[in-house]
Amino acid sequence: MSDTATLPGPAPAGKNDSDDVLLRVDNLVAGYIPGVNILNDCSIEVGKGELVGIIGPNGAGKSTLLKALFGLVKIHSGTVTMLGQDITGMKANALVARGVGYVPQNNNVFPSLSVEENMRMGVYLKPKTFAERWEFIGDLFPVLHDRRAQRAGAMSGGERQMVAMARALMMNPSVLLLDEPSAGLSPVRQDESFLRTRMINKAGVSVIMVEQNARRCLQVCDRGYVLDQGTDAYTGTGRELQADPKVISLYLGTLAEDVDAGADAPKADAPKADAPPAVTPAAAGPATVTDAAAPDTQTPDTQTPDAT
Ligand SMILES: Nc1ncnc2c1ncn2[C@@H]1O[C@H](COP(=O)(O)OP(=O)(O)OP(=O)(O)O)[C@@H](O)[C@H]1O
Ligand SMILES: [Mg+2]
Repeated sequence: MSDTATLPGPAPAGKNDSDDVLLRVDNLVAGYIPGVNILNDCSIEVGKGELVGIIGPNGAGKSTLLKALFGLVKIHSGTVTMLGQDITGMKANALVARGVGYVPQNNNVFPSLSVEENMRMGVYLKPKTFAERWEFIGDLFPVLHDRRAQRAGAMSGGERQMVAMARALMMNPSVLLLDEPSAGLSPVRQDESFLRTRMINKAGVSVIMVEQNARRCLQVCDRGYVLDQGTDAYTGTGRELQADPKVISLYLGTLAEDVDAGADAPKADAPKADAPPAVTPAAAGPATVTDAAAPDTQTPDTQTPDAT
């Protein structure tokens, strides 16, 4: 037997070896109302230390997927496992204790509390770990130490997003679920948001990031999924998805000219038999959304307290 015969072959695009899988979702069916499924046979996974992006048209079920993973939406069938253990249908508190962090798109800080108080709320399940985790946050986002006494509601949208991420990190999650961290921010602030997500990931936290800004998302993520009508329509590395003609025409709109550099990349996984539905580039156009983003449209004090 040759040496190479004993070596594992390359993993298929969009897959991790089972030992490397942190969170795995199999054939998830979930929704808000009995009989109305928003997620339909949705399967994704995130490996240890991986940054996974989820893109797709409005209403595809991206936020619903994150909520289902965080115990906020009823799962009708399918399974969610973390390090091989079944966590399907667990409540948010139990999931936080197991290492799942979640940052919703809105209402994700306590605006009337200071930065430090927000961090204390983040670690309320383990108050004794505050000092250690606050130090970790200071290494990652030094500005939050400088601004520890500032009221979160008086910060800019980008700064509040940082507070929200830091608050979720206080519980030392293994995986962080981020719902549209760059939404509502100016292009410069969006860049910072993507950089922050990368920094968090480089610090050892696996990340599942839902993003409207599809191109930037695919640029920074290790792997991506295109969610459409509640199912994982396409998957592959970020580079593969950026270069896949179907993904470009259906979901990335006019971005074809921007991905010339990746044109030689292999194609992403074939779509599922029942996917994708027709979505016009105009409807999906993340470039339009990005380009039209108003500067830091989240104004201070527009948020309400949120206890998630
Ligand atoms: N609380 C709710 N109760 C009932 N239906 C809901 C609820 N929230 C969302 N939905 C429905 O679920 C579907 C998917 O919504 P979801 O918010 O998950 O989409 P999305 O992919 O995150 O979209 P967007 O890009 O606009 O954020 C939509 O049809 C939406 O109307
Ligand atoms: Mg959403």
